[in-house]
Amino acid sequence: MKKATELNKQEAAAELEYLAAEMAKSDIAYYQNDAPYLSDAEYDRLKRRNREIEELFPDLIRPDSPSRRVGAAVKNGFSKVNHRFPMLSLGDVFSIEEVEDFILGVKRFLNTAEDIAFMSEPKIDGLSFSARYENGRFVQGATRGDGSTGEDITENLKTIRQLPLTLKNAPQILEIRGEVYMSKEDFFTLNEKYAVEGKKTFANPRNAAAGSLRQLDPRITAERKLSLFAYTWGEVSERVWDSQEDFFKHLKDWGFPVNPNNTLCRSIPEIEKSFERLMEIRASLPYDIDGVVYKVNSIALQERLGFLTRTPRWAIAHKFPAEQALTLIKDIRIQVGRTGALTPVADLEPVNVGGVIVSHATLHNEDEIKRKDIRIGDTVIVQRAGDVIPQVVEVIREKRPADSQEFEFPHFCPICGAHAIREEDEAVRRCTGGLTCPAQAIERLIHFVSRDAFDIAGLGQKIVEDFYREGILQNPADIFTLENRNRGGDDLFSAGQGLHLERKEGWGKKSVENLFSAINAKRIISLPRFIYALGIRQVGSATALLIAKNYGTFEHFMQDMVNKETGRLVSVDGIGAAMATDMVEFFQEEHNIKIVNELLQQITVEEYADSVNYDSPLAGKTVVFTGTLQKMTRSEAKAKAQNLGAKVAGSVSKNTDYVIQGADAGSKAAKADELGIEILNEDKFLELIS
Ligand code: IVH
Repeated sequence: MKKATELNKQEAAAELEYLAAEMAKSDIAYYQNDAPYLSDAEYDRLKRRNREIEELFPDLIRPDSPSRRVGAAVKNGFSKVNHRFPMLSLGDVFSIEEVEDFILGVKRFLNTAEDIAFMSEPKIDGLSFSARYENGRFVQGATRGDGSTGEDITENLKTIRQLPLTLKNAPQILEIRGEVYMSKEDFFTLNEKYAVEGKKTFANPRNAAAGSLRQLDPRITAERKLSLFAYTWGEVSERVWDSQEDFFKHLKDWGFPVNPNNTLCRSIPEIEKSFERLMEIRASLPYDIDGVVYKVNSIALQERLGFLTRTPRWAIAHKFPAEQALTLIKDIRIQVGRTGALTPVADLEPVNVGGVIVSHATLHNEDEIKRKDIRIGDTVIVQRAGDVIPQVVEVIREKRPADSQEFEFPHFCPICGAHAIREEDEAVRRCTGGLTCPAQAIERLIHFVSRDAFDIAGLGQKIVEDFYREGILQNPADIFTLENRNRGGDDLFSAGQGLHLERKEGWGKKSVENLFSAINAKRIISLPRFIYALGIRQVGSATALLIAKNYGTFEHFMQDMVNKETGRLVSVDGIGAAMATDMVEFFQEEHNIKIVNELLQQITVEEYADSVNYDSPLAGKTVVFTGTLQKMTRSEAKAKAQNLGAKVAGSVSKNTDYVIQGADAGSKAAKADELGIEILNEDKFLELIS
């Protein structure tokens, strides 16, 4: 072999190509097939040779070079990546009956009595990632983030040697998605090392994986051992597979690790068997799993089934039963939430529940404490299931101390002292202090800046609390006047009177500037986020999205609410009368209107631009379905119409544009006729949307 210094440029390029390919082959053999292709010494020799040549010919360094697996640190945090295809989550179920209901729902939607094949896959307890390949080269890695925007972790993902950097015979654009995890063994080794070094250890492998992957310095990611499994896809220029099973074959050919326990199930008993088998082998697997995912195998059927707001209709997660442990209740505290709800929380003697240290559990509400007769000093069984807050399952009566007293739920807010009242039919007792109650005001601020709302990362819980207590932030509108107030206003008279946060302990010029730029970046906000951020009772992000879709602008929504007009709201599928009442009530409160108006002076709320098809003949139209359709089910037709930008209403009104009439249509068709609304039969509807 020639010395590196004797190579000409052409030879060097050819050898670098050969080295990259050899080492990639070796990575696959080592990680995927458990069958080393090169010895460690040989591998290191190739690595050295690669480095020597690259040092001599830096302009020949290939993007898939093994030396590129560790890049440079990013200085100012991760940049954002917009997912062209959202990274969704899955609906959860906890029993085989619920799985059966899910499968029945799928069949009903598709209007078929035949068995449908499902892929059963272990649900890996890690963090999802998306890896983008263009022309067969890995170009970008991203975290899931909120599903629509993630963080750019390209350099960190590259350090995971199981991730192929080049693909042969792949579509021009291909996003592969899956889970990054840390094996149990690597987790224990890392924690032991950290314990010896006196560093903080991780609570579980998932946290360790998350902490390792989201490192600004990829050299740290490289030191921690991370692994991955691929299981789905995002954007793809040409889908060359027609089932989940077929997709896995392609993944293997491209060199991605695919979980060996994925199995195709053709009936409910087979699904049940796959679940039981995974439960059995769970403890012996080298990584944590927290359930089983079932996916409709056929992609054609997946496409017909489509999506709900955040989850696919063609897949579900069947979670393993909760893990339990025995511990002592040291105290019962009352927390006050954003809407004034008093929530009892148990302080526990810390206990390890399935690998996580638990020291608090929610007691839900007054009735729950009564029903289970939970008392301070009791020994209880606590359980943890997935991400939910730990709960108290039952009290061990035999262990109750002789002098124990029944817990008395307070009738006054423990934070502000106002009356706490319980409306008839309501399970919760609420503080009547409104925004004069610091707990409610703080929680509302925290909600306002939270991830699905304004997502102002620089304003964490602790800062919000401090700023509230110091009178710097009292309500959401204050966030956007902060910079001006810090300077001391624009007028000459108040110059020099500013807050001067940069002089506060723990703050400096730079961190204050960062905070203001994080705030200013959010002066333009999408309509669903804005509605959600207001923190109206019962209005979560899915409901906020429905409102945004239906009203288009904030002004239209607010006008109806101020005028107590709920007709339009309740005609939206998914919004009920009780929710509408809460919305109207919110806009009857003077202080809410005042804050909203102050906010609107500071920020711009975008009109809702739907990602659905704007050119479709149904865009912006309100349609009502009636009668039985023959060629598709009602749910399928509804989903189709919504994807084409239509609003689907439950009843006919003067706002209806089309009534789609199936067989045996009843009064809705008659009403449409009366109002002169266009009625389409099923074929006409299909023609319109085709
Ligand atoms: S499929 C549209 N498959 O579970 C379907 N997810 O609760 C997208 N997960 O965010 C997910 N193992 O992080 C899928 N075999 C598997 C999975 C899996 C783990 C995670 C993933 C996802 C979450 C959903």
